[in-house]
Order: sequence, then C-alpha cells, then structure tokens
Amino acid sequence: MVSMLNWTDDMLVHIDEIDDQHRNLFLLINRLIIHKRNQGRREELMDLIRVLVAFAQTHFRTEDHHMAETSYPLAMVHSKEHLKFTERIKEFATDYEKGVEDLSDKMLSFLRVWWTTHVAGSDKKFATYLRNEGYIP
Ligand SMILES: [Fe+2]
Ligand SMILES: [Fe+2]
Repeated sequence: MVSMLNWTDDMLVHIDEIDDQHRNLFLLINRLIIHKRNQGRREELMDLIRVLVAFAQTHFRTEDHHMAETSYPLAMVHSKEHLKFTERIKEFATDYEKGVEDLSDKMLSFLRVWWTTHVAGSDKKFATYLRNEGYIP
C-alpha cells in the first residue's frame, strides 16, 4: 500500500501564506494517494491537475515575490524549478487527454520527488536564508 505523506513542522517556512499553500499541496498529494488506493475514477485526476495548475500559479507568485523582496541570491535557480513544475503539470493535462495509462502513478512519483527535493529541499533552504538574514524569527 502506498504510504501517505507525513506533515512535520520542520517543513514550515514561517511565512503564513507560504506555509498554508504548502499544507494545501500536502493535502493534494495525500488526496492523490487516497485516489490511487481506492482506484478512483480517472476523471478525478483531471480535477486534481486543474487544482495543481491553480496552486502552481498562486504559490510560485507568492514565493517569487518573497524571494525578490528579500534579495534571495538563489532566486533564479529556485524559480527555474518552479517553471519546470508548471511545465510538467501541463504535460500531465496533455497525458490525460491522450489517455496515458498509469497517469496517477506518474503524477504521484513526480509529486513525491517534488515534495522531498523542492519543498523539503529548496524551499527549506530559502527559509534558512530568511532566518539567517533576520526576516523571520
Ligand atoms: Fe513552495
Ligand atoms: Fe519553491
């Protein structure tokens, strides 16, 4: 059985807006895991993809804003990762239309990697910077 993601408070960036968005993403990934477990309807994947597209637009705009505001030195690299995420999610929409099989598996493995490398990696690195620079307590 696919295990659910666990939330730990060391994921917090300590900017409420960003943390709320990360919590939403966390819930979305677990929703996908439940969908897989229950062998949910394929159409639900398209709903998830739509929500992910909307999430990406809002969330990346928020992070980009805070990175610019605090002159984050790794902003360019970080934003490139965001761009890649957005492109991949759009590909999922195309894959859905094409009737690609195992789409939920592909989405899940992509999102898990995103969670561990970007949210728990790059975003955390940004949070550390914010703390060291005195922007957050
Ligand atoms: Fe993020
Ligand atoms: Fe990010």
